[in-house]
Amino acid sequence: MTERPIVDFDHHSTEFHEDRVAGWAELRECPVAFNERYGGFWVVSGHDVVDQVSRDGETFSSKHQREPGDDGISYLGIAGIPRGRSIPTAGIAEVEGPTHVALRRVMNRYLTPTAIGAMRPRMEASARWFLDQVIERGRLDLVDDFTNPVPAVLTMDLVGLPLDDWHLYAEFFHGTIAHRPGSPEFDRAIGNVGAMLTRLGEEAAARRQAPTDDLLSDLVTMEVDGRRLDDDEIRSVLWNLVGGGLDTTTSLTSLSLLHLAQHPEQRQDLIDHPELLAGATEEFLRFFSVNETLTRTITADTTLGGQELCRGEHLMLSWLSANRDERVFERPDEVVLDRAPNPHLAFGVGAHRCIGMHMARTMFQVLITEVLTRIPDYEIDADGVQLYAGNPELNGVVHLPATFTPGPRLGPAERPF
Ligand code: HEM
Repeated sequence: MTERPIVDFDHHSTEFHEDRVAGWAELRECPVAFNERYGGFWVVSGHDVVDQVSRDGETFSSKHQREPGDDGISYLGIAGIPRGRSIPTAGIAEVEGPTHVALRRVMNRYLTPTAIGAMRPRMEASARWFLDQVIERGRLDLVDDFTNPVPAVLTMDLVGLPLDDWHLYAEFFHGTIAHRPGSPEFDRAIGNVGAMLTRLGEEAAARRQAPTDDLLSDLVTMEVDGRRLDDDEIRSVLWNLVGGGLDTTTSLTSLSLLHLAQHPEQRQDLIDHPELLAGATEEFLRFFSVNETLTRTITADTTLGGQELCRGEHLMLSWLSANRDERVFERPDEVVLDRAPNPHLAFGVGAHRCIGMHMARTMFQVLITEVLTRIPDYEIDADGVQLYAGNPELNGVVHLPATFTPGPRLGPAERPF
């Protein structure tokens, strides 16, 4: 066996997190290398190899296989993050084969471009209503008052969960992703886990008794190999779907609004030329890559980028690094609103490609349009900006306070969703 190129970095450290764009640029000099930390794992950072791995789900599996001696570390989750017994495995994201295909088929009905197009008026009504609650004040926290609640309510709506429960899920996912384990904010958020799982279980049980025409009903009544999913499977699929829907779009929108405040000429371009928004969406997806990394498990000895990888080893994929690869993107560290082509991998690629991507794109565009048309002069209070403490999987903003010229409510006064 040839010698493995070794790299040494701790993706959990503040040091790596704070300078990670430069860190990944250095790592890309050897796009497939081995890091001996956390039990050892391959680090895949080049656009071509990230793409290759993602398309070959047979050799590079997303499946979470509990085996004797398994310490509870998820195979999809990043090395060094203990999952904890009470938290379900990551639903559809860690399932392969016929069950994966069947689950995607059921969910897809609600997530096609046509289905999301039909949802758009509800997205607009939701964005309008949340902005109405603060627009007369001239001040808001763009995260707490806008980019967090809107995707949360819409995710409840997508699945068929009670809309008023959005707080429970948003506080959990936002709190545990934004803050480091051991911090008071993290502990407070993780305290919600029992209540969330109970609520998910109750809702699933109610639909089993009396199915309606919604995604949750389809999930509890679907059959794979002649059997229905059990409670644990349902909870874990819902967990993954709700988790996927919530914090990702929130982060993408918050980071983009921060960027536009810091680049007034680009904000003005988007205001003057709304037709730029579709391309700009892809560019913000590429540039921020809010889902920064994920992991795969190698199921058979193989070669990748000239390296020999062995069955049973783990591998970290960096979407963030792939999306900044200078071999594919000119001026990769700049936001170019009309970049074309833009073959970014922010939603992944292959069988596990983000199933919520059409919803994410549309929610993002609705949220940005609402801000740019109703509070176009918003200014960020730089002292109050708080970014995520350093989560190696996801990037985002905790607080984004802003002021703007107050405007009128558009109504209705009652929540229209
Ligand atoms: C900016 C927004 C989003 C980004 C950047 C994003 C990114 C990703 C990425 C990178 C993956 C993994 C792909 C892979 O492993 O190959 C993924 C999977 C997934 N996402 Fe998203 N996502 C976003 C929004 C959403 C939304 C809105 C939903 C739900 C409505 C969602 C639900 C899921 C689910 C269920 C999976 C697992 C799919 C599977 O394994 O088959 N995501 N997403």
